[in-house]
Amino acid sequence: MVKLNSGYDIPALGLGVYLVPQEDAATVVYNALKIGYRHIDTAQVYKNEHESAQGLLKWINEGLGKRSEVFFTTKVGSPEGYDHVVQVVNESLEKTKGLEYLDLVLIHSPLTDKEKRIASWKALQDLKDKGLIRSIGVSNYGNHHIKELEEWDGLKYLPAVNQIEINPWLRREDITKYDLNLGIQIEAYSPLTRGYRLKDPELAKIAKKYNKSPAQILIKWSLQQGNIVLVKSNSEARQLENFEVQDWELSKEDLDFFADEYYVSHKAWDPVTYQG
Ligand SMILES: NC(=O)c1ccc[n+]([C@@H]2O[C@H](COP(=O)([O-])OP(=O)(O)OC[C@H]3O[C@@H](n4cnc5c(N)ncnc54)[C@H](OP(=O)(O)O)[C@@H]3O)[C@@H](O)[C@H]2O)c1
Ligand SMILES: *[C@@H]1O[C@H](CO)[C@@H](O)[C@H](O)[C@H]1NC(C)=O
Repeated sequence: MVKLNSGYDIPALGLGVYLVPQEDAATVVYNALKIGYRHIDTAQVYKNEHESAQGLLKWINEGLGKRSEVFFTTKVGSPEGYDHVVQVVNESLEKTKGLEYLDLVLIHSPLTDKEKRIASWKALQDLKDKGLIRSIGVSNYGNHHIKELEEWDGLKYLPAVNQIEINPWLRREDITKYDLNLGIQIEAYSPLTRGYRLKDPELAKIAKKYNKSPAQILIKWSLQQGNIVLVKSNSEARQLENFEVQDWELSKEDLDFFADEYYVSHKAWDPVTYQG
């Protein structure tokens, strides 16, 4: 568990459902909860908020666990301003009806202008005060986007998290240091480089040394940095593999084994550098 600045605890390992097809999302989430995942990360643009919530509700209705044991996140697709954000969060709450509240709502990216980013954040602050969303945060924010919030005279809550792409070849120490100093926790997305570098020969060496899979090494590496880690798999077998990162550790020297070379797997998608 990681403690957020909102006072709530968040499970350090979460299941992400980006690219989980709508028709599969309920089953994928339900299976993950049966394996032991207690943290689900969806978004308006993933088009599976409703189905993901249905998977969680099925698990609760079958008596397998309680709502309060699971942390459920969604993201506002584009921060288009106050009224827009109030409206689309309402839509997310409607789609996930039965969950009673959302644990965390993020601004998905800073890709708009300053005025709209600030107005969108004000909307999230007000929605948090109404109690339907417990924590609020951002995603893909560079330090200059966080500074904008710090300098805004209406700031009531700093983001609880900043969700950004991180892997051993993309450490982003400038952002993680800056955010952690402010009490903003780091959520690492695409920890498996979306699969692109799972066959990396250096990674294979470490995997062999620990008798673990490359995916397990990448997830463990990120957890040991102190990150909250979001990993996606449709398959029960790979969900289980990715969850088996609890009772072993990488040595300090192996944590530093990989070269930081700014490897962004979302090729054309690195909004933390956005200057607009
Ligand atoms: N905020 C943002 O802008 C943003 C951007 C990207 C991602 N995210 C979040 O982060 C989550 C994870 O990132 P991601 O989905 O981009 O990528 P990822 O978790 O790094 O990688 C997922 C890919 O790896 C495969 N995979 C999963 N486990 C595996 C294993 N053990 N061995 C081999 N292959 C494996 C998956 O295929 P199968 O499904 O077939 O197993 C899928 O193709 C997302 O679902 C989303 O919640 C957020
Ligand atoms: C969403 O907005 C409608 C119309 O204002 C309202 O009736 C409904 O209660 C809202 N839903 C939630 C979950 O707040």
